[in-house]
Amino acid sequence: MFVQRIITKDYDEMSRRAADFVADKLRQNPELRLGLPTGNTPRGMYEQLVERYARGELDFSRVHTFNLDEYWGLEPDHPAAFARYIQNHFLRHVNVPSGQAHWPAGKGDAAENARTYEARIGAEGLDIIILGIGVNGHIGFNEPGAAFDARTGFVQLAERTRQDAFHPRSGFATREDVPIHGITMGIGTILEAKSILLLASGASKAEAIQRALEGPVTEEVPASALQRHGDVTVIVDEAAAARLADK
Ligand code: PGA
Repeated sequence: MFVQRIITKDYDEMSRRAADFVADKLRQNPELRLGLPTGNTPRGMYEQLVERYARGELDFSRVHTFNLDEYWGLEPDHPAAFARYIQNHFLRHVNVPSGQAHWPAGKGDAAENARTYEARIGAEGLDIIILGIGVNGHIGFNEPGAAFDARTGFVQLAERTRQDAFHPRSGFATREDVPIHGITMGIGTILEAKSILLLASGASKAEAIQRALEGPVTEEVPASALQRHGDVTVIVDEAAAARLADK
């Protein structure tokens, strides 16, 4: 495993360093195939990327984007849908052509949607996948117990994930509205990306980060699978890094 650890003072610096990482990769390869997370963690990174694009520093015209996951059963324009999130926070502000922005469909025939999505990722795979981490160590919607060789598929959300998904900016009106299922790139799909960027901020993520990076590699901690990958960069703020033995 090669893990580069970058520990930042706070959330804003984490976001800037994450945007630096993407910007560098984009300059090296304008045709980047980029796996993208949603949630609270990457909001600041997207803001940074949008600002840099507006200043003329970045060009996404040849980039393909692939969302990591989606809730099951929401319309793509539901306020909580990840397809909508990525439009609002990133795509509508930059020049990724619409035919080059991909996400797993969260309605219809799940097995068919999963096959279609894997086919889009295709033999070329992803150059980078950016990940957040759940308090329970999940990556995407790969919850504790998910197989490390899993491909894109239909999954059940952990109760903890459903709890954390309901917050003032979540787009859900009530706790009960959070779907029970999702569709997610599998850990096997994620591990095939050429490089992985893992982001985390805040004390609530400190235990998950410690277990992911320093604990045993076990399906009980989905993010511990990253220890099996050869090119992982971890950018975490001091609060999220607080439990790491090796800083
Ligand atoms: P968050 O979610 O960025 O909203 O904390 C991360 C995740 O659950 O993967």
